[in-house]
Amino acid sequence: MHQSRVLSGMRPTGKLHFGHYHGVLANWLKLQEEYECFFFVADWHALTTDYASPKGIRENIRQMVLDWLSVGIDPKRATIFRQSSVREHAELFVLLSMITPLSWLERNPTYKEQLQEIRDKDLHTFGFLGYPVLQTADIIVYKADKVPVGIDQAPHLELSREITRRFNHFYGPVFPEPQTLLTASPKVLGTDGRKMSKSYNNAILLSDAPEVIEQKILHMMTDTARKRRTDAGNPDVCPLFITFHTLYSDEKTIEWVREGCTKATIGCTECKKSVIPKVIEMLGPIQKRRAEFEKDPELIESILNEGAKKASRVAADNMAEVRKAMGLE
Ligand code: TRP
Ligand code: SF4
Repeated sequence: MHQSRVLSGMRPTGKLHFGHYHGVLANWLKLQEEYECFFFVADWHALTTDYASPKGIRENIRQMVLDWLSVGIDPKRATIFRQSSVREHAELFVLLSMITPLSWLERNPTYKEQLQEIRDKDLHTFGFLGYPVLQTADIIVYKADKVPVGIDQAPHLELSREITRRFNHFYGPVFPEPQTLLTASPKVLGTDGRKMSKSYNNAILLSDAPEVIEQKILHMMTDTARKRRTDAGNPDVCPLFITFHTLYSDEKTIEWVREGCTKATIGCTECKKSVIPKVIEMLGPIQKRRAEFEKDPELIESILNEGAKKASRVAADNMAEVRKAMGLE
C-alpha cells in the first residue's frame, strides 16, 4: 500500500480571493510539505452547473492556476493538473454510476439545497445529480485516502465513502476508503459583510492592485450599529475586524481597536487604515511572483500538461486493476 495520498480539486472560477486563500490554499500549502498531493482543476465539475456557458473556462483555469502558483503551490512537490486531461476520471465515473443507487444521490442535502437556491440555471440534469459520483471517481482513481474539504463538502465525502465500500463489496478490496481531512478555516467576510464569494460581488482578490485593496477595505462594511463616530461599536460583529484585523493585525493593534471601538475613541476609517498596509504587505510577494509567472504565456499550460502525465500514469494503473476486478479484461 502506498503512503498517504492527498487529493483535492477546485472549480475553475478565475482569479481567487481571500476566502479561497484562508479556506483552501493555506491548507494545501501545509499539506504539500507533508504528503504526496494531487491538486486538480475541476473543469468537468464546472460544467455540471455552467454547461450552457462554458466559454470563459480556459481563461478561468489560467487565472486560477496562476494564483495557486503565486501563493506557493509548487509543481515540484504537488501534482497539478486539469481533470479533463485525465480521461480515466470519466471511465471510472461510468463504472461507478452503475452501482450508485439513485436514492443516495437524491437525498444528498447539497443537491436539494442547490436545486432550490440556484434559480438562473436549469439544474435538473443527469450530470448535476451525479456530480458526487464524478467526485468519487476523481478521488479513488488515484487511490487517494485523504481529502481536505470544508464542512460544506463533508456530505459528499460521506457519499464517496459509501460508493467506495459498495464497489469493494462487489468486486474486491481495490480502493482505500477516502478519509475527510476537515479543514478548520477562519471566517472570511466580503465587503458587504456576507461570506466572501465571487457570486456576491463582495470579494477582495489576491491579485487586486494595492489601490484597489485600499478602496475595497475603505468601503467595507463595519458594525452597522455604529452609525456615528461618537457611537460605540463592537468589533466582534464587525466584518472588517472579523476578517482583516483578526488575520493580519498584531495583538497590540487588536487591543487598540477593541478599546478604541468600544469606547468610540477611534473612527472606522482610522481603524481600517491601520490594517490596510498589513494586507498589502502580505500580498506583496504573492503578486510579485504572479507578475513573473504571467510573463511566460506557456507556463500554466505546460505545468498542467506535465501534471496530467504524472496523474495519468497513476490513474491508468489503477484503472487496469478496476477492469480486471470487474471482469472487463
Ligand atoms: N466539488 C468540489 C467543489 O465544488 C470540487 C471537487 C471536485 C473536489 N472533485 C473533488 C474536491 C474531489 C475534493 C475531491 O469545491
Ligand atoms: Fe469595525 Fe474598527 Fe469601526 Fe470598530 S472601529 S466598527 S472594529 S471598523
